[in-house]
Amino acid sequence: MVDTKKLESCVQSLGLQKIQRHIFLCADQTKPKCCPKEVGLESWDYLKRRLGELGLDEPGGDRETCIFRTKTNCLRVCSEGPILLVYPDGIWYRHATPEIIERIIQEHLIGDRPVEEYIFCHHPLTENLAAKTSSANNP
Ligand code: FES
Repeated sequence: MVDTKKLESCVQSLGLQKIQRHIFLCADQTKPKCCPKEVGLESWDYLKRRLGELGLDEPGGDRETCIFRTKTNCLRVCSEGPILLVYPDGIWYRHATPEIIERIIQEHLIGDRPVEEYIFCHHPLTENLAAKTSSANNP
C-alpha cells in the first residue's frame, strides 16, 4: 500500500515543487575515480554548508524557489573531478573544489552566468523536452 500522506508531506517539507535547480555532486564514492574520496567529501560539505548559509536551499524571503542538492556515488565521468552537474541547465563542471563551487554558487546559481572555464559539457534537458513536446503536438 502506498503511503501517499507521507509522500505528500515530503513534497511539502522538502519544497519539491519549488525547486529551481538541482545540483548533483560526485562524492563519497564507492570507488573514487574522478578524485580522492576526501576531496569529494570536502566539496560536498562545502556545497551543503554554503547553500544553507545563503538560504538558497529552501524558499524564503523574496525567493519562491530553492536549489536542491544530491550527493551521487558516481556520475560516470570518472576523471577530472569532483564532477558537479546543474539541472535543468545541463551544465557539467569539472574540478568542483570548494573554491570553484563558491564561484558556481555566486556566478551561476545567483548571477545566472555559468563559470565557462570549468564547463566541459552543456546539454540542457528542457530544450530537448520542449522540442519533443512541440513536435508531438505538431506532427
Ligand atoms: S567517480 Fe566521480 S564521476 Fe565516477
